Formats: sequence, structure tokens, C-alpha cells
Amino acid sequence: MPSVYNRYCLHNISELWTPEGSLAAAGAAMARLKKLHHACLYVVDGRIAWVGEESALAAMGSDPAANSLKREAALAPRIDAGERACVPGFVDSHTHFVFAGWRDDEFYWRTQGVPYMEIHRRGGGILRSVEATRAATEGELIDLGRARLNRMLSLGVTTVEGKSGYGLDRDTELRQLYAMRALKGNNQVLPLGAVPDIVSTFLGAHSVPHEFAGRPRAFLAYLLDAVLPTVRAQNLASFVDIFCEKGVFELEDSRWYLERARAAGFALKLHADEVAPLGGTGLAAELAAVSADHLLKASEAHIQALAKAGTIACLLPLTAFSLREPYANGRHFIDAGCAVALASDFNPGSCNSQSIPLIFALAVLQMGMTVEEALTGLTLNGAASLKIADRVGTLEIGKDADFLLLDAPSPSHLAYHSGMNLVVEVYKRGALVWKNGNALDAAPFDSRV
Ligand code: NIG
Ligand code: FE
Repeated sequence: MPSVYNRYCLHNISELWTPEGSLAAAGAAMARLKKLHHACLYVVDGRIAWVGEESALAAMGSDPAANSLKREAALAPRIDAGERACVPGFVDSHTHFVFAGWRDDEFYWRTQGVPYMEIHRRGGGILRSVEATRAATEGELIDLGRARLNRMLSLGVTTVEGKSGYGLDRDTELRQLYAMRALKGNNQVLPLGAVPDIVSTFLGAHSVPHEFAGRPRAFLAYLLDAVLPTVRAQNLASFVDIFCEKGVFELEDSRWYLERARAAGFALKLHADEVAPLGGTGLAAELAAVSADHLLKASEAHIQALAKAGTIACLLPLTAFSLREPYANGRHFIDAGCAVALASDFNPGSCNSQSIPLIFALAVLQMGMTVEEALTGLTLNGAASLKIADRVGTLEIGKDADFLLLDAPSPSHLAYHSGMNLVVEVYKRGALVWKNGNALDAAPFDSRV
């Protein structure tokens, strides 16, 4: 059987779970999923044309338009889901996947008790990755990026956000963004195989480079004057992000920079209150940022402010795990009315992991979230934090047919099989792009991100 049809009806799905809507789900809404049994998914030209239970497909109602759609679905070629569970493709909404070099020695020091920021102060940390990334060609960054994206795809990630921030100079920051742009184009080039869709973020304000040591404001002014206009003109990034952290970019510098980036037309994200309780979470709410990320040390008042502002709380459990820090209290964020997204933060320093299965396990077993809420955090709310929830993140009519089949009868197993990859098939815009450990050179799908 060919791996993809223009038009097919995937049937014999044991259980299909999906959040609904095109806006982030906040508070109690995060747990409200549509759950279908014996479901089928009718896909036409890479989009979902109908989704429902097999019994509903057979039953004809009074609406003639719906009836003709059902008739079409019933006559379409059928693909057997093999009584597997189905969920939307995962959206990993916070990663730093384009970098060169490793920092395994730093990881070793951290296991010996040296704090992350102490390594940073000694000139290690982000600046070491900057050195290696500056020395890498665009081709090398593309190759490194592709290998990481393939692994993400195997874990069910169909859309990924990628940040620059290991260049800290004009040329290298742009080179990281060009590498991501080239990898997006990869989706149309056979036989290289498909990768997740990529949404790019400009994180030039990731650290202060040696050239500007002790002058963070001057460095931010350089980014605004010498780099951001090109990023904008060439449409290289949708978001601007900053590492708002004690000893890196303080609150006032962050506000100054982000206000200007916003005026230049960018939506905002912040690395906020990750290590020290500086107040970046409150700043994100004040500036109506799309998301505030990390939030390990966010204050109660600022959590309330996030909920009120509608700024998505992007929690990154793998980073807390890797830094041996207490996890963000996901339960509390949700009960306070926040929309929580979950993401990997994959990077060479604080979190060298892309493990979606471990995110599920930590969210449910350590952060007080239900598996339904964790699924919403990794799908709809991830998509909303990238401003693409009108297109991906749920399995609803009109959305891209980005979905996963799991080696389990129910999506509830996503946390129950702790840390295990249950994904057996990945579909991107209707095309089977990964199956049982093999990346497939499936029919190309157009990349519209
Ligand atoms: O999200 N905190 C800043 N940035 C990354 C870490 C980057 C690094 O250590 O290379 C983070 O944790
Ligand atoms: Fe990060």
C-alpha cells in the first residue's frame, strides 16, 4: 500500500483524543478534550475533512452537506490504523536546536555540584557554544540541525520552534536563521526526507558576548540597529526572545529591548525567572508577550498577571530535571487560570534532551498535571504559543492532517508508559513521514510556515 493518498479515510482508530479550537486553552479548559472511540479521520489534500466515530460515519442525518461529506469519506480509500490510538502531532514550542559543539564536560561539573550560572560566570556556558557555532559553516549547522529534527520527528514532533542565540554577532545569528530556513525548504526536497515544520525565533539577546562585556545595553542596541532590521526584512523570524536573567539581561534592559523589538513588528517571548526570581514573568504579562518560558521562580502575583494577560506559560520540565531544580508547579499555573504549554528547551547546556515521553512523565508525575492537560500543553497550547493554532495543534475539520498513531489502545498511555516512545507512525499534512524507526521519504508536502 502506498504511504500516502490525496484522499483517504484512516479507520479503526481505537481512541482519538484532541483539544479543540484555535486559541490557547486556559485553566480548566486544558483538560477538556474531545475523545472518540472507534474513530476515523478523513483526509483530503493534507487537511482534515472529517473526524468522528465510525458509527457516526455510517449514520446519515438531515444535513445534506454533512451527508455528502460522510458518503465521500465512506467511499475513499481506507487505511487501517490497526486499533491504535491517535493524537495530534506534538508541537515543541521552545528549542535551541541549531548549535555546534557539545558541553558534556560542563554537564559533568554540574553533576559534581557546580551551579549552571557559576559555569556561565566563569566564561563557560552559552559563550562556549557561541564559539563553536561561530566557527561552523551554514552547511554544518544544517546537517547538525537535520539530524536533531529527525530524532524529534521520531518522537512525534510535527512542528518545532527553533531559536538563534549562539552567534551573538550579526553574521552568526543570521547564519543560524538561514540554516533553519534551509531546513524548512528541506520538506520539499526529496530524497532528503521530511522534518518537522520550523518556526524561528530571534534570540540574539541570549548572552552578552566578549566584545560587549559589561555593556549589555550597548549590545542590545547593536542587535536592534545592526541585526533585527535584516531579520525583519528577510522574514527570518516570527518572534524575539531574551534571556531575562540576573547577571545576563536585567529587567530594565529587557523591557527597553523588548519594547523596541515589538515596535519593529515582532511578537515577544521571554526566558523568565529561570534561575533567579527577577520578575521577567511580570514583564512578559506587562508587555503582552505571546509566552513566558521556564518560570521556575515566578512569583504568585506574576502567575496571576500571566493568566490575566493571556500570556502562555511555557513550562520546560526537562530543564528543571537536568538542572536538578524543583519543577514548575503546572497544577498551580492551571488552577490560576493560565494556559500552559510544555516544551523541551533542547539545547547543549541546561537541557540536552528532546524527549517528549519524559515531558509527559514529568508533567503528570511531578508537576500535578493530568495526561489530558499535558497533551493540550504539547499540542494546542504549543501551537498557540507559536501563533499557528488556526492551522495545527488539534484534529479538527480544516486543520493540517498532522497526527500520530501510538502503540497503545489509548492516549492515556502517554504518561503511563513513562519515558517510552509510543509513536509508531507520524503523519505530516496527511503524508506518512515516519514509521517504526524509519524516516520515510514520503510524498513531499508544501511548507507554509
Ligand atoms: O533555555 N537559559 C538560557 N538559555 C537556555 C540555555 C542555553 C545554554 O545553556 O546553552 C535555556 O535554558
Ligand atoms: Fe531556552
